Amino acid sequence: MLPLFSKQTFWYSSEMEKTSLFLDACHGKNTKRPPIWFMRQAGRYLPEYQALRSKHTFVEMIHTPELAHEVTLQPIKRYGFDAAILYSDILVIAEPFDIYFDFIEGKGPQLRNYHDDIHDLINKLTASPDFDVFSYVYETIRELKLSLKSTPLLGFSGSPFTVACYLIEKQSSKTFSTIKSLIEESPDLVHKLLKILTDTTIQHLKNQINSGVNAVQIFDTWGAILEGDLYHSFSLNYIQQIIKAIKPLNIPIIVYSKNTHQRINDLISLNPTVLSVDWNSSLDKIAKDYPTLCLQGNLNPHILHDSKEEALLQAKTICNEMKNSQRFIFNLGHGILPKTPLSHVEAVVNYVKSL
Ligand code: CP3
Repeated sequence: MLPLFSKQTFWYSSEMEKTSLFLDACHGKNTKRPPIWFMRQAGRYLPEYQALRSKHTFVEMIHTPELAHEVTLQPIKRYGFDAAILYSDILVIAEPFDIYFDFIEGKGPQLRNYHDDIHDLINKLTASPDFDVFSYVYETIRELKLSLKSTPLLGFSGSPFTVACYLIEKQSSKTFSTIKSLIEESPDLVHKLLKILTDTTIQHLKNQINSGVNAVQIFDTWGAILEGDLYHSFSLNYIQQIIKAIKPLNIPIIVYSKNTHQRINDLISLNPTVLSVDWNSSLDKIAKDYPTLCLQGNLNPHILHDSKEEALLQAKTICNEMKNSQRFIFNLGHGILPKTPLSHVEAVVNYVKSL
């Protein structure tokens, strides 16, 4: 077990962080322009990322603190984003059980250690988790905190259901039909899997926070494939457990959820510090319905990719709608697309920074 670092982290953990627009917005107290950062801001649209990536696999890059450190800083150096996000992946979470993903060019994640069925998978996950395997993550965070100075650093995890989708399917899928059938056939086994992932995620997030991250984001990309009560019991329920466990550590918790514009009330009932939504949700409407909620979003990354003019128009609409809000963080509605032109990103960042 890694020694847990003794540093206690509060929202404003140092003098310099008092100047953070991002943390101010999380706190509902930002009276200046909106802070801006992008999901997947460290990625393939950046030539400096591609240069490193041509020499290393993604798995090598995230597992090597020097490289993860450098890649995390690349978008901060180029665009001066108002927050950095740790370069890692939500699918590393099973590593303490010796379960690894590879990332295949053009195909996405692929489970390296195959399991025969969910019984076999759960068997592997009942071993006692070895968090020492994450020392590369915590070392990267500590190094980043030294380099970032006043820019806050986000840690993150996937929602247990989103991670379970990949563990069960063993790769990306458009429908994740295997986990859906399993929920019908063996709901108790799926709950068992989700509970283990939840406990591991809580520990990993606590370790990230104790290593120095200033906020955490939980990525719930696939929860919306579940309907009605299933969404509550197999997805929301476990995000709720994570939030409950992390809240006492007193840093902002952002919940990002995709395709959940009809489930905003449910997400708000989780009591996150910030709700991050995709472009199908209306920030304006949510802000009116929930005036004390902090919001993050929600420029369509396809528009950012396709047209600078259209992206600027949409960015202006979003910023106008949120003009008087002290609790708004400008972001995309999902990760930036790998082929997004640099000039489009630059135009949007410059616009938001000019406000
Ligand atoms: O925002 C950030 O850049 C922080 C780091 C981060 C990555 N992935 C880096 C990454 C985070 C927070 C994620 C989250 C993630 N990973 C999610 C949830 C959010 C979402 O995008 O829906 C999911 C479902 C994954 C799983 C995953 N990782 C997939 C499906 C893929 C392949 C698709 C792709 O974009 O290539 C990855 C690989 C991945 N994760 C890359 C990056 C920068 C691309 C790696 C490369 O080839 O260089």
